[in-house]
Amino acid sequence: MKTSFNEANVLTETTGLGRAGASPRPHLHKTIDRDQLLAQLHWRYATKQFDARRKISSKDWSTLEEALVLTPSSYGLQPWKFLVVNDPDVRQKLLAASWGQTQIIDASHLVVFTIKKNLSEKDVDAYLDRIAEVREVPRDSLHALRQTLIGSVIRGWDDARRREWSSRQAYIALGNFLTSAALLGIDACPMEGVDRLKYNELLGLDELGLQTVVVAAAGYRSNTDQYATAKKVRFARDEVIVSV
Ligand SMILES: Cc1cc2nc3c(=O)[nH]c(=O)nc-3n(C[C@H](O)[C@H](O)[C@H](O)COP(=O)(O)O)c2cc1C
Repeated sequence: MKTSFNEANVLTETTGLGRAGASPRPHLHKTIDRDQLLAQLHWRYATKQFDARRKISSKDWSTLEEALVLTPSSYGLQPWKFLVVNDPDVRQKLLAASWGQTQIIDASHLVVFTIKKNLSEKDVDAYLDRIAEVREVPRDSLHALRQTLIGSVIRGWDDARRREWSSRQAYIALGNFLTSAALLGIDACPMEGVDRLKYNELLGLDELGLQTVVVAAAGYRSNTDQYATAKKVRFARDEVIVSV
């Protein structure tokens, strides 16, 4: 018997997944060893100077876009859009709204993580349509899930809470992006040092119903970037990890 909220129950019981017929995900072989993982996490750093001449290949970039798409989110609602800003003139304007941080213009690629400003029943319905399509389940079978999502995210919260929640989801995408880039040997810089309102204005996000949360620049480090060789500063593991 369920005694408390459990998202897993909501999602599986309402989408037919708990019943016979759903095939288990194949068990993947290990693709990266422990040393490689840690080596890449040590290798990465918040890149301050990019080599403006080096561009990420289209295959690598496409992989990173797919990593963004694959980001998990609470309820699976994906309340975001990721803007890839390619236009150099727009990037130049964004530079002024980013405290002059040159990563904005020098990096090969620039992603603005945005959330939907007014997440609504329409977005929930689009998500349910997608579940029905991908999992080939009748749309009607998702009624209970619809009630849950609308009851909590849409009607249960005010705008401020919904946007705060959506922003937290966008940060998961940022983390996923940074790690994915590092695993591919691509440099990146997460950036909060941007004027979000100016970004919204320059990118015309209001009209798209979006707002800026955070930014990431990606490309290849310049060999003059002194941060590349600076030691990583992290608290000792026993100060950060608590076993209970
Ligand atoms: C959400 C977030 C926002 C950040 N904003 C900026 C930024 O605007 N400019 C910058 O140069 N670094 C920025 N950083 C980089 C951090 O300073 C850096 O990640 C931190 O000092 C740890 O160093 P490391 O990433 O090089 O290991 C940001 C990092 C995060 C996670």
